Formats: sequence, structure tokens, C-alpha cells
Amino acid sequence: MSSRTSDVLVVGGGIIGLVTAWRAAQRGLGTAVLDPEPGGGAAWVAAGMLAAVTELHHGEQTLLGLNLESARRYPAFAAELTDLTGHDLGYRRSGTLAVALDADDRAHLRELHDLQRRSGLASEWLSGRECRRLEPMLAPGVRGGLRVDGDHQIDPRRLAVALVAACERAGVTFHRTRAARLTVTADRAAGVVTDDGTALGADQVVLAAGSLSGRLAGVPAAALPPVRPVKGQVLRLTVPPRYAPFLTRTVRAVVRGSQVYLVPRANGELVVGATSEELGWDTTVTAGGVYELLRDAHELVPGITELPLTETRAGLRPGSPDNAPLLGPTRLPGLLLATGHYRNGVLLTPVTGDVMAHVLTTGEAPEVALPFTPQRFGAILSGTSSEQPA
Ligand code: GLY
Repeated sequence: MSSRTSDVLVVGGGIIGLVTAWRAAQRGLGTAVLDPEPGGGAAWVAAGMLAAVTELHHGEQTLLGLNLESARRYPAFAAELTDLTGHDLGYRRSGTLAVALDADDRAHLRELHDLQRRSGLASEWLSGRECRRLEPMLAPGVRGGLRVDGDHQIDPRRLAVALVAACERAGVTFHRTRAARLTVTADRAAGVVTDDGTALGADQVVLAAGSLSGRLAGVPAAALPPVRPVKGQVLRLTVPPRYAPFLTRTVRAVVRGSQVYLVPRANGELVVGATSEELGWDTTVTAGGVYELLRDAHELVPGITELPLTETRAGLRPGSPDNAPLLGPTRLPGLLLATGHYRNGVLLTPVTGDVMAHVLTTGEAPEVALPFTPQRFGAILSGTSSEQPA
């Protein structure tokens, strides 16, 4: 067993772990990331909507503040990452149109519009005709919609690749293996032992392993994040040049109670998502999931059936009890969390990197992160996790 040490060891190399590592390394901390495939994870499935306004939900006003703050940071964040790495992130400020297909959808959208206005958010009610003028491929039956020019998109796969490159440039070390167990010494997190038995020491350990964050062995129960996997199936289609522009902005709706969205990329990719299923660790793409997504997307945009279907995938959102992330120190000194981002991981990437770097360098959470302390959950329990490694 060998032992290597760093100031910060980030367990999990998805976009949240990577942005944490990048920002920490930029602040002069010796940083390592532990992941068998850095740049993978849920970002490989996600559509990349930056939808603080159209994904607003009742009871999530506190989360809205963090979502808006991260959306505000996106332009500078994307520009910095592109300047540094030369990677185009597919960041498009083309806006979002949420539409209604029947009277129930319309009532639902009206309610969302009221909530948005009460929250001081910019969104404009459009008639069905006005929606179709913006997006001629929409079904003739569209009854109305909300135009939200401030909800943008990014390509999460490009974002992940760019973050790996940014980490490499900043001197982050990558350990391409899994964490088997957290090491706790004198009531303090002191590193991890990897799958192959290597001991990696660190002054601070950040658990950023998405939906797997609650499964790392050795974490005391009082510090274990209450995250659970929420499956999302997502399709990718291609718009042939003769059909372009098929859609000019993200189009979304709630159809029979299920969210469906179509996210058109500049390169001709059209992402259609997503199911939301509480099925544990299952990531099977099912005929039923694909059928429901295509059926609902077809109701919105009938021409979709002409397009080649190029990919189907399922990923796991890291859900938390209040749908908001867990950012900052746990009850175990030396162990921090950056997880539980649920539906908003891509949107919350910029603010998460800034928050975590602040906590790692000062020991204090910045004001914007105070409501998202991991310590808001759970009683103080004793014992440790006996679950499978992350
Ligand atoms: N934010 C989109 C989704 O979670 O499906």
C-alpha cells in the first residue's frame, strides 16, 4: 500500500467534482481527483438546459436564488473556460419556450407564469399563434406558451471535456480508479483507500460522486449525504441540414403530467428528455421510456418522427430530500460535500465551483451557500456506512 497526499482530494470526476478541483487548484491548493473515467457521469446524459425560470417549482424559492446566481455567472464562466482550453462549450443564449397542448397544460402554465412573476422573473405569455410564429414546427394544437429568453443551454459533454482540460492545465492530479473507503483518523477525514488498496491522504476530502455519494464506505452516518438516484432516460436525434433550423430554441411542455423537452444544438443534435423514475440503480433504457418520450415529443413537434434517432441513454440524477444541493463541510471535520444537485447539476456548475473553492480555502461557506449546508439534514447519528464503495 503506497500513500500520496494532497491538500484536497475530490472523490468523483463528473462536472461537479471537476469544477471543484479546477477552482481549488486555481487558488493554489494541491488537488487530486479520484474517478475511473473523469469527465463521465450524469453530464454524459444531461440535456444541458440552464433553466432556472422554466424549471421553477413551488416550494423551491431558496433553490431559485442559487440557480439564478449560477445562471448569472455562466457567461463569464463559459468564456473563461473556453479562453483557457480552446473548447467550444456549445453555450447558446437562444432561450426557451414552454408550451401548453390542452386546457390542463394551459392552466398549469398560467400558474407557473404567476409564480414566475411573483418571484420577479422575466417571462412572457404568448398565444398559440405567437408560439408557432416563433417555432413553426410546433403542433397546430399548441394553446399558448411562456417565452423565457433568459433560460439558455450548454452542451454538458463539451463542458465535461473542457473541465478535464482545465484541471490538467491547473495541475490537478487524476487517479483513474474508484474510492473503496474513506479513511478517518482521530475523528477527521484523512483521505481514502482506493479499489487497488492505495492509500491517498488529503487535508480535505470532497465527496462529489453524484448519486453514488451516499455509498462510500467508512463515512460516519452523521456525515453521509442523503442522496438517491433518480433515473432519467434521454434521446438524441439528428436534424439533417435540409430540415434546419428545425427548432431555434429549447421547447418544453408538461404532457399528461410528464416533463418533455427538446433542446436543439447548433451542430444539429436534438436532445429529447427526460423520464423521471425512482428505480434505484437501474440505468436500463426501456422501450416504454423511449416510447413515452417520442410520443410526447411528437405531440409537441410532429415532424420529429422524420429525424434519425441516434442515441438512447439513461443516467442517474443525485436527488436530495429538498431537491437542493449539499455544499460545504459535513459534521466530520475534513469531509466536505458537493452533491445532491438533482435536476440542476449543469446549471449549478459555476456557482458550485466558486462556493467549494471558497470553503476549501477559508473554512467558511460564502453567504450564497449558507442555505445549502449539508448539516441541514439529519439527526446526529453514530456508526459508519457499510454500503458498497462509490
Ligand atoms: N433538468 C432536466 C432534467 O433533470 O431532466
